[in-house]
Amino acid sequence: MSIGFRRSRDEPTPRSRVNPASIIAIASGKGGVGKTFLSTAIAGALARAGRRTLLVDGDLGLANVDVHLGIAPETDLAAVIAGWVDLEDAVTPVSGGVANGGFDVLPGRSGSGALAELPNEEVARLAAGLTALALQYDHVLLDLAAGIEANVMRLARAADRALVVVTDDPASMTDAYAFIKVLRGYAPSVQPVVAINQADNRQRGRQTYEAIAKACQTFLGFRPPLGGIVTRDNKVRESLRSQTPIMEKWPTTQAALDATQIAESLIRGWEAPIQREERSHA
Ligand SMILES: Nc1ncnc2c1ncn2[C@@H]1O[C@H](COP(=O)(O)OP(=O)(O)O)[C@@H](O)[C@H]1O
Ligand SMILES: [Mg+2]
Repeated sequence: MSIGFRRSRDEPTPRSRVNPASIIAIASGKGGVGKTFLSTAIAGALARAGRRTLLVDGDLGLANVDVHLGIAPETDLAAVIAGWVDLEDAVTPVSGGVANGGFDVLPGRSGSGALAELPNEEVARLAAGLTALALQYDHVLLDLAAGIEANVMRLARAADRALVVVTDDPASMTDAYAFIKVLRGYAPSVQPVVAINQADNRQRGRQTYEAIAKACQTFLGFRPPLGGIVTRDNKVRESLRSQTPIMEKWPTTQAALDATQIAESLIRGWEAPIQREERSHA
């Protein structure tokens, strides 16, 4: 089944990736480290900073961005892949959407195993569709599934940078290193950036980062930059339980402030040059 990646009426012809919109994959080796929480929190923070932001649920097997945000989307990526709707028609507004100070989401479908088993060409088409859609935004966050399976890496390849989320759990650290190593081999143009989540405190977070950076330096010959440190905060679970974006409910709780700092450094330091005149602002 083909995917209907129709472009909007006034969207420009997709350009080469010489000067791309900024696509950030949110990745990890191990699951449950906080990728989806960070994706939603950073998206909320970018929106608050006035950036046109799209959050894509790229966890094709266990999609749950919708659960984190408490939204019940009418359509999703599963419908896009089935050929029922065009990619841009699956875009769902959150907190008013981009037009009203919020952000947009391309939701996945929880428990949609079919998405995890997409053939190569379909993943490539999805990635190409996202790249074209990204031209309408300042930032696209791509919340990936954990691990280094082929489809995860194929989607990651569509990104400009990969924010690799790590906790101080040793398994999370070794798996994050494995992700970075595989990414370097498979998609060398994607720059890994490390984010520490669920840190007991900033010093412990810094130590976790240094351990990963040192392993990368020793065995891979480069040192990934630190994207930020997010502390462990009970409000994260509470906001998830109440299905309300943390940036709406507790924008000043510590984890939200930490995620806001990541968003600020993303805007300052990670942003690829953007040719605004080539953007569609329909
Ligand atoms: N900074 C944090 N402080 C406390 N709990 C967190 C934090 N980040 C994530 N969590 C919790 O960890 C669990 C997994 O988070 P999630 O974002 O779903 O992980 P992933 O997407 O990597 O699988 C959730 O229950 C979430 O509430
Ligand atoms: Mg997740």
